[in-house]
Amino acid sequence: MCGIVAYVGPRDAQPILLDALGRLEYRGYDSAGLAILNGKGVEVRKKSGRIEELAKACRAKPVEGKSGISHTRWATHGAPTDTNAHPHLDASGKLALVHNGVIENYLELKQHLTKAGHKFSSDTDTEILAHLVGESFEHSKEKGEKCLIDAVRKALQKVQGTLGIAVLHADLPGLVVGARRGSPLVIGVGNGENFLASDTQALAPYTDRVVILQDQEIVALYADHFDVASPLGQKAVHVEKIENGVASSDKGSHPHFMLKEIFEQPETVRNAFRGRLDLEESSTKLGGLNLSLDQLREYERIFVIGCGTALHAGMVGKYLIETLAKIPVDTQHASEFRYSDSPVHPKTLFFAVSQSGETADTLGALREAKRRGFRCLGICNNVSSTIARESDGGVYMHAGPEIGVAATKSFTSQVVIFTLLAILLGRLHSLSAADSRRLIEALQQLPDHLHALLKRSDEVRKIAAKFASARSMLFLGRLANFPIALEGALKMKEVTYVHAEGYPAAELKHGVIALVDKDTPTVLVATHDGVYDKNLSNLQEVKARGGPILAVAHEGDQKIGGLADAVFSVPKTHELIQPILNVIPLQLFSYHTAVALNRDVDKPRNLAKSVTVE
Ligand code: G6P
Repeated sequence: MCGIVAYVGPRDAQPILLDALGRLEYRGYDSAGLAILNGKGVEVRKKSGRIEELAKACRAKPVEGKSGISHTRWATHGAPTDTNAHPHLDASGKLALVHNGVIENYLELKQHLTKAGHKFSSDTDTEILAHLVGESFEHSKEKGEKCLIDAVRKALQKVQGTLGIAVLHADLPGLVVGARRGSPLVIGVGNGENFLASDTQALAPYTDRVVILQDQEIVALYADHFDVASPLGQKAVHVEKIENGVASSDKGSHPHFMLKEIFEQPETVRNAFRGRLDLEESSTKLGGLNLSLDQLREYERIFVIGCGTALHAGMVGKYLIETLAKIPVDTQHASEFRYSDSPVHPKTLFFAVSQSGETADTLGALREAKRRGFRCLGICNNVSSTIARESDGGVYMHAGPEIGVAATKSFTSQVVIFTLLAILLGRLHSLSAADSRRLIEALQQLPDHLHALLKRSDEVRKIAAKFASARSMLFLGRLANFPIALEGALKMKEVTYVHAEGYPAAELKHGVIALVDKDTPTVLVATHDGVYDKNLSNLQEVKARGGPILAVAHEGDQKIGGLADAVFSVPKTHELIQPILNVIPLQLFSYHTAVALNRDVDKPRNLAKSVTVE
């Protein structure tokens, strides 16, 4: 999983490639590289570390040339070193290739090439592909432009797995060949210049006209035109105009994007329900579902697929839909659903939840659900993403770009969308107008509650400073607050590297309690609800074993105040809306702990914002 940018045109390629790569850093940031045709041959620069390291190397020794390919990497095969960074060269040293994806049969191919005398300098699967394409090209008679395109096609027939690639050859200046199978690739159409990239956002400052390549397509990209071929032959393409929302790289007054995005939530939550409340009907309107109310009423079950934070939002959604609409909801890790044989009720409506809309596991699961004949809707933030395009309809989050790798504002937007959906489905079944009204009012009050809650950030910072030395933490909650506990634990792991586990509070006694000691804080989500007393018992169990307790509790809760070692106070709202408020101190807690530990908050080690490989 990685990001690709290529350029062919009259301008210097290096600054364009570096700039556009910067907008793809969310796809990986452990190493980066570029290859430019400098008039004499292929010149390569590659560096482990952030794109800034590559930029420094390029500033120290610029590469001059008008066509080039580049890459930002998230390591799959081979450690993130200079050598393993892309581009990779073929045996002749004249062909360079960058790759997004995984080649599953690379060992077999490597053995075959090694026998034929090929030598490899990296541990990557990508270098094998460069050699395969190079070998095929060298065997061609004319070694012309068409031969390079054919060589790519032939090499791809031999590889199994997902890929998006860009290739250039020293003897063919002014040509970049791109191909897509599973990993997204778009052509940016300029005036006398053309681009290739993993997403449209990378090209936002350069063009708003794009062609989204489909699977199995190959493009030959020149400065003044491009040709796209599918396995059936040459193909007429549709150039789309996209909205050029250049992602804001401005953190405002905040030191990190993560904090900025946490503080944006009063606004992003409002954007998620804006225009979607139907006060007259005491219901909600979700036109993007592309389903009439009668059609929607026909569904007997719902299935939510997603990964990481998105799945946690789906788990809150399950609770909301089952409570309000009495429709059974299954949630599953997208990666598990994709390969499972579990039977699914025929009247099931699927939801694929993904901030980026590019997560490979979620996309794979969506395709699998559709293949099995189910209608699959998307809940995405990125409107031009693959999941948004391939789903049968859905609901956009309108949360604006989320740049911090740890998802924050997208989570609360997703939960708001599930609330809207649960109200809509509830009103189609037995939810009363009065009960629905109370929920809608609570939604409308959310931005104000969030404002008030965020003012407590400094209190959370002080608690974080006190517990930052812990090497392990437990997060507990029940019912809709169980996924909040999971999300709290995930945030903690992601940005602090502190071991954290989320559990349903009652599971404590079934093993987890063995971890409790004076150095292992337990974060208990215990706002007033139907299981408040049960949570108090769990709190006592931890306390009895000397474990520090940090509780998320309603403002002024004296009982918890008297028992817990620290309290994250939250305003009281409707019980079903409360999880959206309860997650905020947990986001802040992980953020402030990460700062106290001097972590790279916005780009934690080993992670990527969007995981585009399985
Ligand atoms: C990655 C990120 C997580 C995110 C997950 C799903 O693993 O590191 O923070 O929750 O992908 O991302 P999506 O874009 O599909 O919501």
